[in-house]
Amino acid sequence: MRLLNSALVVSGAILIASCATQEMSQPVAKPNVKYGKAIAEADIAPWNIDIRTSDGSGLPAGRGSVAEGKAVYDAKCTVCHGAEAKGGPVVGAMVGGIGSFKTNVRVLTPGSMYPYAPILFDYIRRAMPMDKPQSLTVNEVYAVSAYILQLNGLVPADAVMDQTTLAKVQMPNRDGFIVDDRPDTNAVRCMTNCK
Ligand code: HEC
Repeated sequence: MRLLNSALVVSGAILIASCATQEMSQPVAKPNVKYGKAIAEADIAPWNIDIRTSDGSGLPAGRGSVAEGKAVYDAKCTVCHGAEAKGGPVVGAMVGGIGSFKTNVRVLTPGSMYPYAPILFDYIRRAMPMDKPQSLTVNEVYAVSAYILQLNGLVPADAVMDQTTLAKVQMPNRDGFIVDDRPDTNAVRCMTNCK
């Protein structure tokens, strides 16, 4: 039995050694694997929804009016956010608070906080309604964004939001953010007699 065991160990060692040699002789660029397949552009498209919110590049084609947005909102958002986005059983208000960032009591709403309007589109498209994310059409997202902007007094009641108009909405807090360019640390390397 002992003899058999050591014979197995030896042949195992030879096997491992030959595998290792074989692996090392493979060209690095072409691993010898037989699983996976190249992904098609069409399969990437639904995931590729990034928007550069500062200028709206990447916003999809489509459009939606304030009136259409009110209909979407009343049907799909009121239950959590309350009528006219004034706050509901699940979340607080999405209107008002504009200018509050300059006071000690900040009221966070898209109108008071977001520096760029396309953030609203991006957030809603990805995450809302919270119980059914990514169920809205692009036009519905434009429309409901238009409605929330209108409730915040940032676009008129007849506004239509699309790839161009949404990025042009001037958000009140646009210049309220500062770039934090402080270095990560001011520590000076010290190995002996340190403070
Ligand atoms: C099931 C409840 C629910 C529904 C329905 C829902 N939301 Fe929300 N929503 C939330 C919650 C909770 C948050 C806060 C999430 C957080 O802070 O992480 C939120 C946050 C948001 C925000 C960000 C607010 C901010 O101050 O930055 C927006 C915009 C928004 N929702 C829009 C919508 C729209 C538009 C709809 C309808 C299409 C909708 N939501 C439907 C629960 C819901």
